Amino acid sequence: MKLSIIGTGYVGLTTGACFAEVGHEVICVDNDTAKVQMLLDGGIPIYEPGLEELVQRNVAAGRLRFTTHIAEGVSQSGVVFIAVPTPPQPDGSVDLSFIERVAREIAGAMTSYKIVVDKSTVPVNTGDKVAETIRRYGKTGVECDVVSNPEFLREGFAVEDLMRPDRIVVGVRSPRPVATMKEIYAPFDAPVLVTDINSAELIKHASNSFLALKISYINAISVLCEATGANIQEVANGMGMDVRIGRRFLQAGLGFGGSCFPKDLSAFIKIAEQIGYDFRLLKEVQRINTEQMQRFLRKITDTLWVLKDKTIGVLGLAFKQNTDDVRMSPAIELCQRLQKEGARLRVHDPKAMDKARGVLQDVTFVDDMNTVAEGCDALVVATEWDDFKQLDLERARKALTHPILFDGRNLFDPEEMEQRGWIYKSVGR
Ligand code: UGA
Repeated sequence: MKLSIIGTGYVGLTTGACFAEVGHEVICVDNDTAKVQMLLDGGIPIYEPGLEELVQRNVAAGRLRFTTHIAEGVSQSGVVFIAVPTPPQPDGSVDLSFIERVAREIAGAMTSYKIVVDKSTVPVNTGDKVAETIRRYGKTGVECDVVSNPEFLREGFAVEDLMRPDRIVVGVRSPRPVATMKEIYAPFDAPVLVTDINSAELIKHASNSFLALKISYINAISVLCEATGANIQEVANGMGMDVRIGRRFLQAGLGFGGSCFPKDLSAFIKIAEQIGYDFRLLKEVQRINTEQMQRFLRKITDTLWVLKDKTIGVLGLAFKQNTDDVRMSPAIELCQRLQKEGARLRVHDPKAMDKARGVLQDVTFVDDMNTVAEGCDALVVATEWDDFKQLDLERARKALTHPILFDGRNLFDPEEMEQRGWIYKSVGR
């Protein structure tokens, strides 16, 4: 099928590449000329495992193209996906101006029936607004169906999540676009759930908020574990063996970050408020997340006392492993707060150093994780990169002025660390 995707961010680019991989003809559109040029030259603007090969393979096969012209995408495809950013506004509500502008531009370029599919994360009722906008700005007599098709990919696992999704949600107003949507997704071998548009939009916000809630829940339990000498890892394992609960997203640590959970939680709370519901449960999820960072910082200051003029080595800058994304990264926030206390920082991340250079000032970026500890008073693990499990602990222990490790992601075994002579502080253990 011929598809176009407006917006080549994480969602748009990966979705486009995966659609092409299963045989669709895809045109990716973006108004960022530098980004499109980079893609045309064979480059990739983000680090996402497997994506570069996927893009190159499908460009070479002629199934994936890039352009800056919406009209080109719209005229050459029957289905137009919208995957543009929906950033937060200062009050937590969602800025829908990119969606609105794209809807107008699609309307202006349409000369025949199209299915317009929203993939961006949007507040409930946005689909109706998009349909209304396209009707208003489109040519008389040119029909269109608007579909809500939220995306559930995780950064760092985006290709895997797209190629093997748990479910495909298709929100429609009429049955007309359903067969086409099912055809697009047929190669992915996943259950397709057809709902009304508002339900599809709510499924996305409700899912992300629930996952964030799971993380805050386990972080709250980690506080109880610390106070009682229990072990959060064992508690999470025991809880997770109940299939109704599940083990995933019960990893205690520094709290959640990234471009989705914090933004989507604020948006969902705001949406509820506008509808007249005070979503206190989710406000508590936010509060626990904020406190989790404060509690971790307190562990550092309780141990090191004054941070002024101390040097701390920080392992991890990305908001989680397998990505170079530092947006709303707990690791970056931790660095900034340590700096505020007067600490000097030596930092390392396997993939996010370049992006971190744009947000962190006056830190020493260290290329090799095994030399971060040199001249430091303590080490901190801030991102759950598996790579850090391979850290040369003996070398780090000798390089530090005192062998102190604050593990914000519970990567190491407390008993083993103590046996090796470390002062080791983790979360909920
Ligand atoms: C999240 C959702 O998981 C995706 O399903 C969704 O499609 C996406 O948002 C989106 O809306 O676009 P993502 O933000 O890429 O995906 O990352 P996650 O893997 O969900 O992790 C989010 C944060 O939670 C990270 O900071 C991670 O370190 C933290 N986390 C995750 C924990 O602290 N504990 C856990 O057990 C899991």
